[in-house]
Amino acid sequence: MMGGGLAIMTALMCLSMVAQAEDPYLFFTWNVTYGTISPLGVPQKGILINGQFPGPNINSTTTNNIVINVFNNLDEPFLITWSGIQHRKNSWQDGTLGTMCPIAPGTNYTYHFQVKDQIGSYFYCPTTSTHRAAGGFGGLRVNSRLLIPVPYADPEDDYTVLIGDWYAKSHTQLKSFLDSGRSLARPDGVLINGKSGKGKGKNEPLFTMKPGKTKYRICNVGITNSLNFRIQGHPMKLVEMEGSHAVQNNYDSLDVHVGQCYSVLVTADQEPKDYYVVASTRFTKQVLTATGVIRYTNGKGPASPELPPAPEGWMWSLNQFRTFRWNLTASAARPNPQGSYHYGEINITRTIKLVNSVHRAGRKLSYASTAFPTSTPPPLSSSPSTSRPPRRSSSITSSPTSLPP
Ligand SMILES: *[C@@H]1O[C@H](CO)[C@@H](O)[C@H](O)[C@H]1NC(C)=O
Ligand SMILES: *[C@@H]1O[C@H](CO)[C@@H](O)[C@H](O)[C@H]1NC(C)=O
Ligand SMILES: *[C@@H]1O[C@H](CO)[C@@H](O)[C@H](O)[C@H]1NC(C)=O
Ligand SMILES: *[C@@H]1O[C@H](CO)[C@@H](O)[C@H](O)[C@H]1NC(C)=O
Ligand SMILES: *[C@@H]1O[C@H](CO)[C@@H](O)[C@H](O)[C@H]1NC(C)=O
Repeated sequence: MMGGGLAIMTALMCLSMVAQAEDPYLFFTWNVTYGTISPLGVPQKGILINGQFPGPNINSTTTNNIVINVFNNLDEPFLITWSGIQHRKNSWQDGTLGTMCPIAPGTNYTYHFQVKDQIGSYFYCPTTSTHRAAGGFGGLRVNSRLLIPVPYADPEDDYTVLIGDWYAKSHTQLKSFLDSGRSLARPDGVLINGKSGKGKGKNEPLFTMKPGKTKYRICNVGITNSLNFRIQGHPMKLVEMEGSHAVQNNYDSLDVHVGQCYSVLVTADQEPKDYYVVASTRFTKQVLTATGVIRYTNGKGPASPELPPAPEGWMWSLNQFRTFRWNLTASAARPNPQGSYHYGEINITRTIKLVNSVHRAGRKLSYASTAFPTSTPPPLSSSPSTSRPPRRSSSITSSPTSLPP
């Protein structure tokens, strides 16, 4: 009797241990330092992770536990956010001031979070002191688990493309502009994976493409500017956005606003040679452009100097966004608390109107993404990249009652 009970208990303990060991762990140690980088051809002080700019990409799969020990070797407090990752009941790992204290210079902090209920392309970036303008960002992908079907064939390759506007001024200078009430003004260039494509034609290729399909994960990691992304002679088929599979439409170019990511499939079915990828600023008087080269593995001719044109006007952007849809019948790791397949049938009980605003707090220039009742102070941020909607729903009024002055 006793022996049988013990055996069952041991078996149960083993089972629970197996259950706990099910979700794999990924461990990283990151050393955050200053370093000299020359993305626009002129040396400037950048923020490196393990000596890299942009930082290393994290390749994870849903349910993975991610443990990142971050050593802050800057002379300023530092924090990293995992942009787009849902920290369920775990908001203190989100890396934004207000949910976390910054990592003091010369110390380390270990982030610990699980990627769950979402798949796709994301990025991480610093949230303190306009650090994002100096680097410290990188790609973060969340793959579907092998047993979950993905609604397209495995691509030949899978590349992360981080595009963003870039300033030649240091992050401390940019921060002092905002702190004294000045705006950031115009950026000095646009980067694709830390490069601007100066010296056309002589560039080493950013990526190589085998004949067949290649997946690109495009994120705008910049500070203020919306960018248009396009590839010479190659339409892009959108397959994933904001954590789920998308209805697969083809686009000649994509407007990528700050903080957004898209996953697209590109078929290498053209003459085997080099082609330009292009990222250019939108809604600006003077258009800034970055180019990079992609090379077919089975051929080697120069890219045509003629770059594909960018769309014009904000209406184009709005209309494009209206064509994006999740494919809710494709399987994905999305949360389904009240039947995501039945969104159209859920009755609307409350509508909350959000408004973007710029305002001054004392001498500081601040950006917010909604308006607040005067009794609730808005979560002020010193940089536009850290603006977030408020977290306490009780403090949100249905429409913006008091636009900040
Ligand atoms: C981080 O990098 C700095 C500069 O290269 C070096 O002095 C330091 O020892 C490194 N720290 C860790 C924990 O690797
Ligand atoms: C990312 O992880 C997936 C799943 O483990 C693996 O199949 C793939 O080869 C990895 N990709 C890279 C670039 O490491
Ligand atoms: C700092 O790093 C050490 C060495 O890896 C580790 O033992 C310690 O737990 C880390 N501290 C924090 C707060 O993450
Ligand atoms: C959604 O995904 C499913 C499963 O792959 C596919 O059969 C269906 O055609 C897709 N629907 C649309 C509108 O793309
Ligand atoms: C929505 O409202 C209608 C009409 O009041 C009601 O019949 C229906 O059951 C409601 N649906 C849900 C999901 O609550």
